[in-house]
Amino acid sequence: MNNMKKAGIIGVGGYVPERVVDNFEMEKIVDTTDEWITSRTGIRQRRIASDSQATSDLAVEAAREALDSAGIKAEELDLIIVATLTPDSNMPSTACIVQDKIGATRAAAFDLGAACSGFVYGLVTGAQFIQTGAYKKILVIGAETMSRVLDWKDRSTCVLFGDGAGAAVIAEVGEDEGIASFELGSDGSGAEFLIIPAGGSRMPATCEVVQERLNCLKMSGPEVFKFAVRVMADSAKRVVESAGLQMSDIDVMIPHQANTRIIESSSKRLAISEEKMFVNLDKYGNMSGASIPFALYEAHRSGKIKKGDNVLMVGFGAGLTWGAAVLKWSI
Ligand code: UT7
Repeated sequence: MNNMKKAGIIGVGGYVPERVVDNFEMEKIVDTTDEWITSRTGIRQRRIASDSQATSDLAVEAAREALDSAGIKAEELDLIIVATLTPDSNMPSTACIVQDKIGATRAAAFDLGAACSGFVYGLVTGAQFIQTGAYKKILVIGAETMSRVLDWKDRSTCVLFGDGAGAAVIAEVGEDEGIASFELGSDGSGAEFLIIPAGGSRMPATCEVVQERLNCLKMSGPEVFKFAVRVMADSAKRVVESAGLQMSDIDVMIPHQANTRIIESSSKRLAISEEKMFVNLDKYGNMSGASIPFALYEAHRSGKIKKGDNVLMVGFGAGLTWGAAVLKWSI
């Protein structure tokens, strides 16, 4: 007999900064065009944090809404996980800053580093504590200020990303609800394809490395593209099968919002209709760790995801990493 409890999402929240930067504004910053960005990526605009906003500020807004949506108080939280590649600082964790700002006096807190797959990694990690009964209420946040790690002179990356945060409260749910299956994966042989080279122990930030912009994100776009197309479809198929479902049973798919061409290709490979794919990257760009939770939040808020729906989420990103999960939506 399996005595494990079922873990699911009982509340969601989201936040994006007010400032909208559209592709025409990007044309004034780097040698690019709205036509190139739209046709190669599907992105039309992105949000950029104000000078006074750090990642924890975005995370706190999303967290408060998720707590309201779950109908619980911050004091009830046992654990806060913040998935981010743009922490407020390397130390302490951004999760601890959030813990203090929301008044989650009983909660443990840590950051999780799995880049764009971070929210799925965080959800699955948090779920283990719920399933064993060790913890009852966990807040998982994906939050990023990507604008702070972009090279604003590199047109091949700076047009792609945006800032934002999404959050989910996870707790025990009914036997037929919650996480039905998951897959987490990594392939560190592709570490160089998506990397912020400087600022860590390999290459500490010095004046020289900053002048060379090695403290900014570097990406081999076509390599990541090939990986993404393969891993999105393959891991989606495996998690749907291990949930005991067919692809036709999936009501909504939340893919990582990186590029509409990747999403369209996955939709074809999985034979899942494009109407079932939730896409909001035209408005926000790639928000990395915030991409999936913010999309979940918008999909829930707009009524696209309803109670009882089978939801499939698939993330991929730096590491290289990927994470996929199937959930029966319980709110
Ligand atoms: O969440 C993290 C995961 N990241 C991703 O999923 C990103 C995956 N990769 C991609 O989405 C695509 O590879 C990109 C959108 C990044 C690039 O699209 P691509 O079709 O692979 O273009 P490319 O890198 O092969 O570049 C094609 C051309 C190049 O010019 P030449 O060498 O053909 O003359 C680039 O210099 O497009 C040029 N280019 C641009 N032109 C105008 C690159 N960026 C731009 C730009 N505006 N912003």
